[in-house]
Amino acid sequence: MRRVTVPLDRAPYDVLIGPGALVQAGDILRAHARVAVVSQPAVGEHWGERVMSSLAEAGCTAEMFEVGAGEEAKSLSTVDDLCRRFAAWGLLRSDAVVALGGGVTGDVAGFAAAVYHRGVDYLQGPTTLLAQVDSAVGGKTGANLPEGKNLVGAFHQPVAVLADVDTLSSLPEREYRSGLGEILKYACTLDARLGEILRDDHARLLSRDPDLLGEVVERCVAIKAEVVAADERELTGVRSKLNYGHTLAHALETLGGYDLMHGEAVAVGVIFAAELARALDRIDDDAVAAHRDIVDALGLPTVVPGELAGRLRAADVIDQMRRDKKASGGLTFVLAGPAGLDRVEDPAEKALGVALAAVGIGA
Ligand SMILES: NC(=O)c1ccc[n+]([C@@H]2O[C@H](COP(=O)([O-])OP(=O)(O)OC[C@H]3O[C@@H](n4cnc5c(N)ncnc54)[C@H](O)[C@@H]3O)[C@@H](O)[C@H]2O)c1
Ligand SMILES: [Zn+2]
Repeated sequence: MRRVTVPLDRAPYDVLIGPGALVQAGDILRAHARVAVVSQPAVGEHWGERVMSSLAEAGCTAEMFEVGAGEEAKSLSTVDDLCRRFAAWGLLRSDAVVALGGGVTGDVAGFAAAVYHRGVDYLQGPTTLLAQVDSAVGGKTGANLPEGKNLVGAFHQPVAVLADVDTLSSLPEREYRSGLGEILKYACTLDARLGEILRDDHARLLSRDPDLLGEVVERCVAIKAEVVAADERELTGVRSKLNYGHTLAHALETLGGYDLMHGEAVAVGVIFAAELARALDRIDDDAVAAHRDIVDALGLPTVVPGELAGRLRAADVIDQMRRDKKASGGLTFVLAGPAGLDRVEDPAEKALGVALAAVGIGA
């Protein structure tokens, strides 16, 4: 089993990565009498038994609590419902919660664990590639409001993360590929070896080879763990390097509705970030080509696909990017350059136009 420690001063925790990692749940939660396992039907049917039997063997009384799927289920009413079901079942302050699922399950179960009895221990069991490489690590939990995504939430670190790469075998293909899109933010600039793996070993990766997935997830988690430890509560801006490709991606998701999955939008976003960096003379042609080689190898889009491209105008996309909640007033991008990644504010209009045109967004 691969192990990455998230080295937080107060409560460091381990991320265990590899086939069968979920079997460790019982050992880790042995001291807790009751454990509420929060999951979704599509996940529980495949992987629930692995967790439930491990908890039972460790002597814990465990019960499965299902939540709905999709962003609509990431709501305060789901959190309310979970807390009420926990109470009815008799979950105490000294008991624990497991989040078994993708980012939606992790965020909503983590938030319920953060507020139930003012905080109970919880364990993350991420079952999507996106959740394993990103959302399950770092302690950000929360829910959406009708007024916007992730508008309520809490920092609540898990006691451990079990990234069982076996679980990725039952993920729908588009979901899996979208997870690869999230990895681009690490692979294009922060970890050259990861970039090589995505580019040269894409066939093994697309066949979901568990050993290779173990290495890929470990590399991503190592980067996330380091960034989280340096800036646990997102106060200093260190975490912004994890937003590579995301300024455009968020705008595309907002303007495009559900046409694009998050990882697909990030794929277009990292190509845009590379083109913008070149237009600003921060990187050369080879660096842009390196981005394209990786995104192409994974079969992810390098331009805004299909009908959506025809609907988008550069001015609207720029307006939307200005509204990004991570932007501090103006237009903010995380861009590659000679000294690594930097935050770049309000780049020249001409460069923006060139980079948007390169991903299929015309004036
Ligand atoms: N907390 C954070 O730091 C953080 C970071 C990034 C994203 N997020 C959040 O994560 C969410 C997206 O997460 P996601 O992409 O994992 O989507 P998701 O949780 O909605 O999962 C996608 C779909 O796949 C199904 N599924 C999950 N695992 C499966 C498996 N192993 N086999 C079969 N089906 C499976 C789910 O039931 C769901 O229908 C967003 O709400 C986003 O805001 C949070
Ligand atoms: Zn992302």
